[in-house]
Amino acid sequence: MSKKQSNWKYVLILLATGLVAAVGGKVSQCVVDSMHESTVIPPMEPAAADAVASKVLEMKCASCHAQDASYSKVLNFFSFGLMRDHVEGAKRAFTLTPDYSVRSGNVDYLKMDYVLRTRRMPPASYSAVHLGSRLTPTDVAVLRQKYKEEGAIARAFAPIAPVAEPETSLEKARIYLGYLLYHDGRLSTTNKVSCASCHDLTKGGTDNLAKSKGVPGPDGMPQLGGVNAPTTLNAAGNIRQFWDGRAADLKEQAGGPPLNPVEMGFTCVADWDIIAHKLSRDPEIAALFAYVFGDHGITGETVTTAIAAYEQTLVTPDSDFDRYLKGDEKALTDSQKAGMDSFVQLGCATCHSGPTLGGISFEYVNTHGDLRALATPADYQEGAFGLQDFTKKPEHKDMFRVPNLRNVALTAPYFHTGTVNSLQEAVRIMIQTQNGAGAASDTTVKNITRFLEAQTGKLYGKPANMLKPEDTVLTPVTPQP
Ligand code: HEC
Ligand code: HEC
Ligand code: HEC
Repeated sequence: MSKKQSNWKYVLILLATGLVAAVGGKVSQCVVDSMHESTVIPPMEPAAADAVASKVLEMKCASCHAQDASYSKVLNFFSFGLMRDHVEGAKRAFTLTPDYSVRSGNVDYLKMDYVLRTRRMPPASYSAVHLGSRLTPTDVAVLRQKYKEEGAIARAFAPIAPVAEPETSLEKARIYLGYLLYHDGRLSTTNKVSCASCHDLTKGGTDNLAKSKGVPGPDGMPQLGGVNAPTTLNAAGNIRQFWDGRAADLKEQAGGPPLNPVEMGFTCVADWDIIAHKLSRDPEIAALFAYVFGDHGITGETVTTAIAAYEQTLVTPDSDFDRYLKGDEKALTDSQKAGMDSFVQLGCATCHSGPTLGGISFEYVNTHGDLRALATPADYQEGAFGLQDFTKKPEHKDMFRVPNLRNVALTAPYFHTGTVNSLQEAVRIMIQTQNGAGAASDTTVKNITRFLEAQTGKLYGKPANMLKPEDTVLTPVTPQP
Protein backbone atom coordinates (compact mmCIF):
# COMPACT_ATOMS: atom_id res chain seq x y z
CA MET A 1 0.00 0.00 0.00
CA SER A 2 1.40 3.40 -0.90
CA LYS A 3 1.79 6.10 1.71
CA LYS A 4 -0.94 8.19 0.06
CA GLN A 5 -3.49 5.34 0.19
CA SER A 6 -2.57 4.65 3.74
CA ASN A 7 -3.24 8.31 4.47
CA TRP A 8 -6.72 8.11 2.97
CA LYS A 9 -7.54 5.16 5.16
CA TYR A 10 -6.31 7.16 8.11
CA VAL A 11 -8.69 10.02 7.38
CA LEU A 12 -11.71 7.89 6.53
CA ILE A 13 -11.46 5.89 9.69
CA LEU A 14 -10.84 9.04 11.65
CA LEU A 15 -14.03 10.59 10.33
CA ALA A 16 -16.04 7.40 10.57
CA THR A 17 -15.18 6.83 14.17
CA GLY A 18 -15.67 10.54 14.87
CA LEU A 19 -12.61 10.92 16.94
CA VAL A 20 -13.90 13.67 19.17
CA ALA A 21 -10.75 13.49 21.18
CA ALA A 22 -8.73 14.69 18.20
CA VAL A 23 -10.84 17.83 17.96
CA GLY A 24 -10.15 18.63 21.55
CA GLY A 25 -6.48 18.18 20.71
CA LYS A 26 -6.10 15.67 23.48
CA VAL A 27 -5.80 12.03 22.62
CA SER A 28 -5.74 9.75 25.57
CA GLN A 29 -2.37 8.06 25.85
CA CYS A 30 -2.58 4.35 25.97
CA VAL A 31 -0.19 3.58 28.74
CA VAL A 32 0.99 0.03 28.76
CA ASP A 33 2.97 -1.23 31.66
CA SER A 34 5.71 -2.79 29.68
CA MET A 35 8.65 -2.34 31.98
CA HIS A 36 8.53 -5.85 33.33
CA GLU A 37 7.03 -7.59 30.36
CA SER A 38 9.12 -10.50 29.26
CA THR A 39 9.01 -11.52 25.65
CA VAL A 40 10.41 -14.61 24.09
CA ILE A 41 12.19 -13.88 20.86
CA PRO A 42 11.64 -16.67 18.41
CA PRO A 43 15.09 -18.12 17.74
CA MET A 44 16.40 -16.12 14.80
CA GLU A 45 19.75 -15.52 13.21
CA PRO A 46 20.89 -11.93 13.84
CA ALA A 47 20.72 -11.22 10.11
CA ALA A 48 17.17 -12.54 9.90
CA ALA A 49 16.12 -10.58 12.99
CA ASP A 50 17.69 -7.49 11.49
CA ALA A 51 15.68 -7.97 8.31
CA VAL A 52 12.45 -8.34 10.28
CA ALA A 53 13.29 -5.22 12.30
CA SER A 54 13.90 -3.22 9.14
CA LYS A 55 10.53 -4.33 7.85
CA VAL A 56 8.81 -3.25 11.07
CA LEU A 57 10.43 0.17 10.80
CA GLU A 58 9.36 0.47 7.17
CA MET A 59 5.76 -0.66 7.78
CA LYS A 60 5.00 0.87 11.15
CA CYS A 61 7.31 3.84 11.57
CA ALA A 62 8.44 5.17 8.19
CA SER A 63 5.22 6.98 7.32
CA CYS A 64 6.13 9.50 10.00
CA HIS A 65 9.87 9.03 10.57
CA ALA A 66 11.31 8.62 7.07
CA GLN A 67 13.42 11.58 5.97
CA ASP A 68 10.96 12.23 3.15
CA ALA A 69 7.76 11.48 5.08
CA SER A 70 5.06 13.84 3.91
CA TYR A 71 1.32 14.35 4.20
CA SER A 72 -1.38 15.71 1.96
CA LYS A 73 -2.71 19.15 2.89
CA VAL A 74 -6.27 18.11 2.05
CA LEU A 75 -6.17 14.99 4.14
CA ASN A 76 -4.53 16.89 6.94
CA PHE A 77 -7.50 19.26 6.94
CA PHE A 78 -9.87 16.36 7.44
CA SER A 79 -7.72 14.96 10.24
CA PHE A 80 -7.98 18.30 12.07
CA GLY A 81 -4.25 18.91 11.68
CA LEU A 82 -3.34 15.69 13.45
CA MET A 83 -1.50 14.37 10.42
CA ARG A 84 0.73 17.43 10.14
CA ASP A 85 1.43 17.32 13.87
CA HIS A 86 2.38 13.65 13.59
CA VAL A 87 4.68 13.90 10.61
CA GLU A 88 6.34 17.19 11.51
CA GLY A 89 6.66 16.25 15.19
CA ALA A 90 8.06 12.85 14.30
CA LYS A 91 10.74 14.18 11.96
CA ARG A 92 11.88 16.68 14.56
CA ALA A 93 12.24 14.02 17.24
CA PHE A 94 13.87 11.16 15.35
CA THR A 95 14.62 10.10 11.79
CA LEU A 96 15.26 6.61 10.53
CA THR A 97 18.22 7.96 8.56
CA PRO A 98 20.14 9.66 11.35
CA ASP A 99 21.94 12.95 10.88
CA TYR A 100 25.07 12.51 12.94
CA SER A 101 26.01 16.17 12.60
CA VAL A 102 23.01 17.00 14.75
CA ARG A 103 22.90 14.01 17.10
CA SER A 104 25.61 11.55 17.94
CA GLY A 105 24.56 7.93 17.38
CA ASN A 106 24.09 7.08 21.03
CA VAL A 107 21.25 9.59 21.34
CA ASP A 108 19.26 7.79 18.64
CA TYR A 109 19.74 4.48 20.42
CA LEU A 110 18.53 5.97 23.66
CA LYS A 111 15.49 7.53 22.07
CA MET A 112 14.58 4.22 20.48
CA ASP A 113 15.12 2.44 23.78
CA TYR A 114 12.87 4.96 25.49
CA VAL A 115 9.92 4.54 23.14
CA LEU A 116 10.24 0.76 23.23
CA ARG A 117 10.30 0.70 27.02
CA THR A 118 7.37 3.05 27.38
CA ARG A 119 5.48 1.72 24.31
CA ARG A 120 4.88 5.29 23.14
CA MET A 121 5.23 4.48 19.46
CA PRO A 122 3.41 4.46 17.15
CA PRO A 123 1.28 7.16 18.83
CA ALA A 124 -1.96 5.81 20.32
CA SER A 125 -4.03 8.15 18.15
CA TYR A 126 -2.44 6.61 15.06
CA SER A 127 -2.68 2.97 16.18
CA ALA A 128 -6.34 3.50 17.04
CA VAL A 129 -7.13 4.00 13.36
CA HIS A 130 -4.41 1.90 11.73
CA LEU A 131 -5.29 -1.66 12.52
CA GLY A 132 -2.21 -3.80 12.96
CA SER A 133 0.15 -0.88 13.40
CA ARG A 134 0.82 -1.47 17.07
CA LEU A 135 4.09 -3.14 17.91
CA THR A 136 3.76 -6.82 18.77
CA PRO A 137 6.03 -8.37 21.40
CA THR A 138 8.07 -9.89 18.58
CA ASP A 139 8.41 -6.47 16.91
CA VAL A 140 9.71 -5.03 20.15
CA ALA A 141 12.09 -7.92 20.62
CA VAL A 142 13.61 -7.64 17.14
CA LEU A 143 13.90 -3.87 17.40
CA ARG A 144 15.65 -4.21 20.71
CA GLN A 145 17.98 -6.74 19.16
CA LYS A 146 18.66 -4.41 16.24
CA TYR A 147 19.33 -1.50 18.54
CA LYS A 148 21.26 -3.80 20.88
CA GLU A 149 19.44 -2.70 23.97
CA GLU A 150 21.50 -3.38 27.06
CA GLY A 151 19.56 -1.54 29.72
CA ALA A 152 18.95 2.16 29.66
CA ILE A 153 21.19 3.02 32.55
CA ALA A 154 24.17 1.16 31.17
CA ARG A 155 23.82 2.93 27.86
CA ALA A 156 22.92 6.37 29.14
CA PHE A 157 25.49 6.79 31.84
CA ALA A 158 29.25 6.41 31.98
CA PRO A 159 31.85 7.75 34.36
CA ILE A 160 34.16 10.53 33.16
CA ALA A 161 37.64 9.29 32.40
CA PRO A 162 40.37 11.32 34.10
CA VAL A 163 42.81 13.04 31.77
CA ALA A 164 46.05 11.23 31.15
CA GLU A 165 49.21 12.95 32.40
CA PRO A 166 50.99 14.64 29.47
CA GLU A 167 53.70 12.29 28.24
CA THR A 168 56.25 14.64 26.79
CA SER A 169 57.70 17.89 28.06
CA LEU A 170 56.50 19.45 24.82
CA GLU A 171 52.91 18.45 25.61
CA LYS A 172 53.30 19.74 29.16
CA ALA A 173 54.55 23.06 27.85
CA ARG A 174 51.67 23.33 25.38
CA ILE A 175 49.11 22.85 28.18
CA TYR A 176 50.94 25.30 30.43
CA LEU A 177 51.06 27.88 27.68
CA GLY A 178 47.32 27.37 27.10
CA TYR A 179 46.75 27.84 30.80
CA LEU A 180 48.63 31.16 30.77
CA LEU A 181 46.74 32.39 27.72
CA TYR A 182 43.37 31.35 29.17
CA HIS A 183 44.07 33.66 32.10
CA ASP A 184 45.70 36.44 30.04
CA GLY A 185 43.86 39.76 29.70
CA ARG A 186 46.10 40.75 26.81
CA LEU A 187 43.82 38.79 24.51
CA SER A 188 41.41 41.71 24.95
CA THR A 189 41.62 45.35 23.85
CA THR A 190 41.54 46.54 27.48
CA ASN A 191 44.14 44.02 28.69
CA LYS A 192 41.64 43.13 31.40
CA VAL A 193 39.17 40.59 30.03
CA SER A 194 40.47 37.02 29.82
CA CYS A 195 38.76 33.71 29.10
CA ALA A 196 38.80 33.16 32.85
CA SER A 197 36.77 36.35 33.44
CA CYS A 198 33.75 34.60 31.99
CA HIS A 199 34.82 30.98 32.53
CA ASP A 200 36.14 31.08 36.09
CA LEU A 201 37.22 27.63 37.27
CA THR A 202 36.23 28.51 40.83
CA LYS A 203 32.69 29.15 39.58
CA GLY A 204 32.16 25.85 37.78
CA GLY A 205 33.78 27.20 34.59
CA THR A 206 31.24 30.04 34.26
CA ASP A 207 30.72 33.59 35.57
CA ASN A 208 27.40 32.84 37.30
CA LEU A 209 25.91 35.80 35.45
CA ALA A 210 22.84 35.78 33.24
CA LYS A 211 24.76 37.72 30.57
CA SER A 212 28.55 37.90 30.57
CA LYS A 213 30.39 41.19 30.89
CA GLY A 214 32.78 41.94 28.05
CA VAL A 215 34.93 44.99 27.29
CA PRO A 216 33.32 48.41 27.89
CA GLY A 217 31.12 49.94 25.22
CA PRO A 218 30.89 53.61 24.20
CA ASP A 219 29.12 54.44 27.49
CA GLY A 220 32.02 53.02 29.50
CA MET A 221 29.90 50.16 30.86
CA PRO A 222 30.79 46.50 30.19
CA GLN A 223 28.94 45.23 27.14
CA LEU A 224 26.72 42.22 27.73
CA GLY A 225 26.73 39.00 25.70
CA GLY A 226 23.52 37.81 24.07
CA VAL A 227 23.35 34.37 25.64
CA ASN A 228 24.43 32.73 28.88
CA ALA A 229 28.06 31.53 29.10
CA PRO A 230 28.24 27.72 29.28
CA THR A 231 30.98 26.03 31.29
CA THR A 232 34.41 25.21 29.91
CA LEU A 233 34.57 22.21 32.27
CA ASN A 234 34.22 19.02 30.22
CA ALA A 235 33.46 21.12 27.13
CA ALA A 236 35.85 18.88 25.18
CA GLY A 237 33.02 16.31 25.11
CA ASN A 238 30.65 18.57 23.15
CA ILE A 239 29.60 17.52 19.64
CA ARG A 240 30.23 21.15 18.58
CA GLN A 241 30.81 24.33 20.59
CA PHE A 242 28.40 27.20 21.38
CA TRP A 243 24.63 27.03 21.87
CA ASP A 244 24.23 27.31 18.10
CA GLY A 245 27.13 25.00 17.26
CA ARG A 246 28.99 27.56 15.16
CA ALA A 247 32.44 26.26 16.20
CA ALA A 248 33.41 22.69 15.36
CA ASP A 249 35.76 22.21 18.29
CA LEU A 250 37.60 23.91 21.14
CA LYS A 251 40.34 25.28 18.91
CA GLU A 252 37.90 26.91 16.52
CA GLN A 253 35.86 28.15 19.49
CA ALA A 254 38.86 29.83 21.14
CA GLY A 255 39.28 32.00 18.04
CA GLY A 256 35.86 33.57 18.64
CA PRO A 257 36.03 35.61 21.87
CA PRO A 258 39.17 37.69 21.13
CA LEU A 259 37.68 38.90 17.84
CA ASN A 260 34.24 39.47 19.34
CA PRO A 261 33.69 43.24 19.74
CA VAL A 262 31.44 42.68 22.77
CA GLU A 263 33.56 40.07 24.55
CA MET A 264 37.28 40.84 24.19
CA GLY A 265 36.92 43.78 21.84
CA PHE A 266 38.97 43.06 18.71
CA THR A 267 37.13 42.94 15.45
CA CYS A 268 39.07 41.41 12.57
CA VAL A 269 41.54 38.63 11.84
CA ALA A 270 44.38 41.12 11.32
CA ASP A 271 43.97 42.09 14.98
CA TRP A 272 45.74 38.86 15.94
CA ASP A 273 48.90 40.80 15.02
CA ILE A 274 48.17 43.28 17.81
CA ILE A 275 47.64 40.45 20.30
CA ALA A 276 50.78 38.68 19.07
CA HIS A 277 52.78 41.87 19.46
CA LYS A 278 51.61 42.33 23.06
CA LEU A 279 52.36 38.72 23.95
CA SER A 280 55.76 38.69 22.25
CA ARG A 281 57.02 41.32 24.67
CA ASP A 282 56.52 38.88 27.59
CA PRO A 283 59.72 36.78 27.80
CA GLU A 284 58.08 33.74 29.47
CA ILE A 285 55.29 33.59 26.90
CA ALA A 286 57.63 34.24 23.97
CA ALA A 287 59.97 31.44 25.09
CA LEU A 288 57.09 28.99 25.47
CA PHE A 289 55.74 29.83 21.99
CA ALA A 290 59.20 29.35 20.50
CA TYR A 291 59.57 25.99 22.25
CA VAL A 292 56.08 24.63 21.51
CA PHE A 293 55.47 26.05 18.04
CA GLY A 294 58.96 26.79 16.68
CA ASP A 295 58.83 28.79 13.48
CA HIS A 296 55.06 29.11 13.53
CA GLY A 297 55.38 31.96 16.01
CA ILE A 298 52.54 33.70 17.80
CA THR A 299 49.42 33.67 15.64
CA GLY A 300 45.70 33.12 16.01
CA GLU A 301 46.39 29.54 15.01
CA THR A 302 49.00 28.82 17.68
CA VAL A 303 47.23 30.76 20.45
CA THR A 304 44.01 28.80 19.95
CA THR A 305 45.85 25.46 19.64
CA ALA A 306 47.46 26.03 23.05
CA ILE A 307 44.22 27.16 24.71
CA ALA A 308 42.39 24.11 23.35
CA ALA A 309 45.13 21.81 24.69
CA TYR A 310 44.62 23.33 28.15
CA GLU A 311 40.83 23.06 27.93
CA GLN A 312 41.15 19.36 27.07
CA THR A 313 42.51 18.91 30.59
CA LEU A 314 39.54 20.62 32.27
CA VAL A 315 37.62 17.43 32.96
CA THR A 316 36.05 16.64 36.31
CA PRO A 317 35.98 12.94 37.20
CA ASP A 318 35.25 11.44 40.61
CA SER A 319 31.84 12.94 41.38
CA ASP A 320 29.56 11.01 43.75
CA PHE A 321 27.75 9.80 40.65
CA ASP A 322 30.99 8.55 39.06
CA ARG A 323 31.81 6.64 42.20
CA TYR A 324 28.32 5.15 42.18
CA LEU A 325 28.75 4.08 38.55
CA LYS A 326 32.02 2.44 39.47
CA GLY A 327 30.26 0.30 42.05
CA ASP A 328 30.12 2.30 45.27
CA GLU A 329 26.44 1.86 46.16
CA LYS A 330 26.72 4.27 49.06
CA ALA A 331 27.99 7.16 46.97
CA LEU A 332 24.41 8.28 46.25
CA THR A 333 21.68 8.94 48.80
CA ASP A 334 18.27 7.27 48.44
CA SER A 335 16.83 10.54 47.20
CA GLN A 336 19.58 10.77 44.54
CA LYS A 337 18.97 7.18 43.43
CA ALA A 338 15.25 7.89 43.13
CA GLY A 339 16.16 11.01 41.16
CA MET A 340 18.35 8.95 38.84
CA ASP A 341 15.46 6.55 38.19
CA SER A 342 13.11 9.44 37.41
CA PHE A 343 15.79 10.92 35.15
CA VAL A 344 15.62 7.72 33.08
CA GLN A 345 11.84 7.20 33.36
CA LEU A 346 11.05 10.74 32.24
CA GLY A 347 13.38 10.47 29.26
CA CYS A 348 15.89 13.08 30.46
CA ALA A 349 18.66 10.59 29.79
CA THR A 350 17.81 10.37 26.09
CA CYS A 351 19.25 13.86 25.60
CA HIS A 352 21.44 14.22 28.68
CA SER A 353 23.52 11.09 28.29
CA GLY A 354 27.07 9.83 27.94
CA PRO A 355 29.95 10.60 30.31
CA THR A 356 29.08 14.33 30.29
CA LEU A 357 25.30 13.93 30.60
CA GLY A 358 24.64 15.93 27.45
CA GLY A 359 26.51 18.06 24.97
CA ILE A 360 26.22 15.42 22.24
CA SER A 361 23.14 16.57 20.34
CA PHE A 362 21.07 19.55 19.26
CA GLU A 363 17.45 19.41 20.35
CA TYR A 364 14.36 21.56 19.93
CA VAL A 365 13.45 23.66 22.94
CA ASN A 366 9.79 23.96 21.97
CA THR A 367 8.60 20.38 21.59
CA HIS A 368 5.92 20.25 24.28
CA GLY A 369 5.76 23.95 25.05
CA ASP A 370 8.31 26.67 24.50
CA LEU A 371 11.11 26.73 27.03
CA ARG A 372 11.63 30.43 26.39
CA ALA A 373 8.04 31.25 27.28
CA LEU A 374 8.41 29.50 30.63
CA ALA A 375 11.96 30.50 31.39
CA THR A 376 12.03 34.13 30.40
CA PRO A 377 10.87 37.23 32.15
CA ALA A 378 9.65 40.09 29.99
CA ASP A 379 13.02 41.79 29.64
CA TYR A 380 14.56 38.92 27.70
CA GLN A 381 15.32 39.94 24.14
CA GLU A 382 14.26 37.23 21.81
CA GLY A 383 16.63 36.65 18.93
CA ALA A 384 18.60 33.45 19.40
CA PHE A 385 17.29 30.67 17.18
CA GLY A 386 19.92 28.06 17.91
CA LEU A 387 21.48 25.90 15.23
CA GLN A 388 19.61 27.79 12.50
CA ASP A 389 21.65 30.91 13.30
CA PHE A 390 24.68 28.94 12.15
CA THR A 391 23.42 26.60 9.41
CA LYS A 392 20.67 28.92 8.07
CA LYS A 393 18.50 25.83 7.56
CA PRO A 394 14.86 26.41 8.54
CA GLU A 395 14.57 22.92 10.05
CA HIS A 396 17.26 23.86 12.57
CA LYS A 397 15.25 26.73 14.04
CA ASP A 398 14.91 26.45 17.84
CA MET A 399 17.43 23.58 18.11
CA PHE A 400 19.99 24.30 20.80
CA ARG A 401 23.07 22.33 21.73
CA VAL A 402 22.10 20.30 24.78
CA PRO A 403 24.22 21.50 27.71
CA ASN A 404 26.24 18.98 29.68
CA LEU A 405 24.93 18.54 33.21
CA ARG A 406 28.19 17.75 34.96
CA ASN A 407 28.76 20.31 37.74
CA VAL A 408 25.37 21.81 36.88
CA ALA A 409 24.74 22.73 40.52
CA LEU A 410 27.60 25.24 40.17
CA THR A 411 26.69 26.81 36.84
CA ALA A 412 23.54 28.86 37.56
CA PRO A 413 21.80 30.75 36.07
CA TYR A 414 20.40 28.25 33.60
CA PHE A 415 19.46 27.91 29.93
CA HIS A 416 20.83 29.88 26.99
CA THR A 417 18.68 32.73 28.24
CA GLY A 418 20.39 32.71 31.65
CA THR A 419 17.07 33.57 33.19
CA VAL A 420 16.45 30.73 35.66
CA ASN A 421 18.38 30.94 38.90
CA SER A 422 17.35 27.79 40.69
CA LEU A 423 18.30 24.31 39.54
CA GLN A 424 15.04 22.96 40.88
CA GLU A 425 13.13 25.41 38.70
CA ALA A 426 15.23 24.44 35.66
CA VAL A 427 14.37 20.79 36.28
CA ARG A 428 10.68 21.61 36.55
CA ILE A 429 10.77 23.52 33.26
CA MET A 430 12.58 20.66 31.53
CA ILE A 431 9.91 18.19 32.66
CA GLN A 432 7.22 20.44 31.23
CA THR A 433 8.86 21.32 27.94
CA GLN A 434 11.00 18.37 26.97
CA ASN A 435 9.01 15.45 28.28
CA GLY A 436 5.47 16.74 27.94
CA ALA A 437 4.49 14.76 31.02
CA GLY A 438 2.96 17.87 32.53
CA ALA A 439 3.78 18.85 36.06
CA ALA A 440 5.73 16.30 38.09
CA SER A 441 5.40 15.91 41.84
CA ASP A 442 7.51 18.13 44.05
CA THR A 443 9.27 15.04 45.35
CA THR A 444 10.26 13.96 41.84
CA VAL A 445 11.58 17.44 41.05
CA LYS A 446 13.50 17.51 44.32
CA ASN A 447 14.98 14.04 43.84
CA ILE A 448 16.17 14.84 40.31
CA THR A 449 17.72 18.05 41.63
CA ARG A 450 19.55 16.06 44.32
CA PHE A 451 20.72 13.64 41.63
CA LEU A 452 22.10 16.53 39.60
CA GLU A 453 23.91 17.83 42.67
CA ALA A 454 25.79 14.52 42.71
CA GLN A 455 27.37 15.53 39.36
CA THR A 456 29.89 17.87 40.95
CA GLY A 457 33.27 16.36 40.07
CA LYS A 458 36.87 17.03 40.97
CA LEU A 459 39.43 19.24 39.29
CA TYR A 460 43.07 18.84 40.32
CA GLY A 461 41.84 16.37 42.94
CA LYS A 462 39.57 18.85 44.70
CA PRO A 463 35.75 19.04 44.50
CA ALA A 464 34.90 21.70 41.91
CA ASN A 465 32.69 23.55 44.41
CA MET A 466 35.60 23.96 46.82
CA LEU A 467 38.26 25.19 44.42
CA LYS A 468 40.13 28.33 45.45
CA PRO A 469 42.01 30.41 42.87
CA GLU A 470 45.34 29.02 44.10
CA ASP A 471 44.16 25.44 43.46
CA THR A 472 43.87 26.18 39.77
CA VAL A 473 47.44 27.46 39.34
CA LEU A 474 49.62 25.15 37.24
CA THR A 475 53.28 24.52 38.04
CA PRO A 476 55.41 26.53 35.61
CA VAL A 477 57.02 24.60 32.79
CA THR A 478 60.36 25.86 31.53
CA PRO A 479 61.16 25.19 27.89
CA GLN A 480 63.77 22.47 27.37
CA PRO A 481 66.84 23.57 25.46
C1 HEC B 1 1.78 8.70 13.07
C2 HEC B 1 3.13 9.12 13.10
C3 HEC B 1 4.14 8.27 13.86
C4 HEC B 1 4.42 6.95 13.68
C5 HEC B 1 3.75 5.96 12.73
C6 HEC B 1 5.53 6.65 14.55
N1 HEC B 1 5.89 7.77 15.24
FE1 HEC B 1 7.48 7.97 16.47
N2 HEC B 1 7.01 9.90 16.83
C7 HEC B 1 5.92 10.55 16.31
C8 HEC B 1 5.82 11.88 16.89
C9 HEC B 1 4.74 12.90 16.60
C10 HEC B 1 6.93 12.00 17.77
C11 HEC B 1 7.33 13.24 18.62
C12 HEC B 1 6.45 13.47 19.77
C13 HEC B 1 6.69 12.49 20.87
O1 HEC B 1 7.84 12.24 21.23
O2 HEC B 1 5.68 11.98 21.37
C14 HEC B 1 7.66 10.74 17.71
C15 HEC B 1 8.80 10.47 18.42
C16 HEC B 1 9.55 9.31 18.29
C17 HEC B 1 10.85 9.09 18.90
C18 HEC B 1 11.61 10.07 19.77
C19 HEC B 1 11.16 10.00 21.17
C20 HEC B 1 11.88 10.95 22.07
O3 HEC B 1 11.78 10.77 23.28
O4 HEC B 1 12.51 11.91 21.59
C21 HEC B 1 11.24 7.84 18.53
C22 HEC B 1 12.54 7.15 18.90
C23 HEC B 1 10.19 7.27 17.72
N3 HEC B 1 9.17 8.19 17.59
C24 HEC B 1 10.21 6.01 17.19
C25 HEC B 1 9.17 5.43 16.48
C26 HEC B 1 9.13 4.06 16.06
C27 HEC B 1 10.21 3.03 16.35
C28 HEC B 1 7.98 3.90 15.35
C29 HEC B 1 7.48 2.64 14.71
C30 HEC B 1 7.27 1.54 15.60
C31 HEC B 1 7.30 5.16 15.34
N4 HEC B 1 8.02 6.06 16.04
C32 HEC B 1 6.09 5.40 14.67
C33 HEC B 1 5.05 10.06 15.35
C34 HEC B 1 5.06 8.78 14.86
C1 HEC C 1 32.87 38.25 27.90
C2 HEC C 1 32.71 36.90 28.35
C3 HEC C 1 33.45 35.80 27.65
C4 HEC C 1 34.80 35.73 27.38
C5 HEC C 1 35.85 36.76 27.64
C6 HEC C 1 35.01 34.40 26.82
N1 HEC C 1 33.85 33.71 26.76
FE1 HEC C 1 33.61 31.81 26.21
N2 HEC C 1 31.64 32.05 26.14
C7 HEC C 1 30.96 33.17 26.56
C8 HEC C 1 29.58 33.09 26.14
C9 HEC C 1 28.49 34.12 26.40
C10 HEC C 1 29.46 31.87 25.44
C11 HEC C 1 28.21 31.34 24.74
C12 HEC C 1 28.15 32.01 23.38
C13 HEC C 1 27.26 31.32 22.40
O1 HEC C 1 26.96 30.13 22.56
O2 HEC C 1 26.87 31.96 21.41
C14 HEC C 1 30.77 31.23 25.49
C15 HEC C 1 31.05 29.96 24.97
C16 HEC C 1 32.25 29.31 25.16
C17 HEC C 1 32.50 27.92 24.89
C18 HEC C 1 31.50 26.92 24.37
C19 HEC C 1 30.99 26.01 25.43
C20 HEC C 1 29.80 25.22 25.00
O3 HEC C 1 29.27 24.47 25.81
O4 HEC C 1 29.36 25.34 23.84
C21 HEC C 1 33.82 27.67 25.20
C22 HEC C 1 34.55 26.35 25.10
C23 HEC C 1 34.39 28.94 25.61
N3 HEC C 1 33.41 29.90 25.60
C24 HEC C 1 35.74 29.15 25.89
C25 HEC C 1 36.28 30.42 25.94
C26 HEC C 1 37.69 30.71 25.77
C27 HEC C 1 38.77 29.69 25.53
C28 HEC C 1 37.83 32.07 25.89
C29 HEC C 1 39.08 32.89 25.74
C30 HEC C 1 39.75 32.83 24.46
C31 HEC C 1 36.51 32.61 26.15
N4 HEC C 1 35.60 31.59 26.13
C32 HEC C 1 36.24 33.94 26.41
C33 HEC C 1 31.51 34.23 27.26
C34 HEC C 1 32.86 34.53 27.22
C1 HEC D 1 14.74 16.42 23.92
C2 HEC D 1 15.98 16.64 24.59
C3 HEC D 1 15.97 16.94 26.08
C4 HEC D 1 15.35 16.22 27.06
C5 HEC D 1 14.47 14.99 26.92
C6 HEC D 1 15.70 16.88 28.30
N1 HEC D 1 16.52 17.95 28.06
FE1 HEC D 1 17.33 19.18 29.50
N2 HEC D 1 18.04 20.37 28.03
C7 HEC D 1 17.88 20.17 26.66
C8 HEC D 1 18.29 21.37 25.96
C9 HEC D 1 18.28 21.56 24.45
C10 HEC D 1 18.67 22.30 26.93
C11 HEC D 1 19.14 23.74 26.69
C12 HEC D 1 17.91 24.58 26.50
C13 HEC D 1 18.22 26.03 26.29
O1 HEC D 1 18.92 26.62 27.12
O2 HEC D 1 17.76 26.59 25.30
C14 HEC D 1 18.52 21.64 28.23
C15 HEC D 1 18.84 22.23 29.45
C16 HEC D 1 18.73 21.60 30.68
C17 HEC D 1 19.16 22.16 31.95
C18 HEC D 1 19.87 23.49 32.14
C19 HEC D 1 21.35 23.31 32.03
C20 HEC D 1 22.14 24.59 31.87
O3 HEC D 1 23.36 24.53 32.06
O4 HEC D 1 21.60 25.64 31.52
C21 HEC D 1 18.86 21.25 32.93
C22 HEC D 1 19.12 21.37 34.41
C23 HEC D 1 18.20 20.13 32.27
N3 HEC D 1 18.16 20.37 30.91
C24 HEC D 1 17.70 19.01 32.90
C25 HEC D 1 16.84 18.10 32.29
C26 HEC D 1 16.00 17.15 32.98
C27 HEC D 1 15.95 16.96 34.49
C28 HEC D 1 15.30 16.46 32.03
C29 HEC D 1 14.21 15.42 32.22
C30 HEC D 1 13.01 15.89 32.86
C31 HEC D 1 15.70 16.97 30.75
N4 HEC D 1 16.63 17.97 30.94
C32 HEC D 1 15.24 16.48 29.54
C33 HEC D 1 17.43 19.01 26.06
C34 HEC D 1 16.70 18.03 26.72
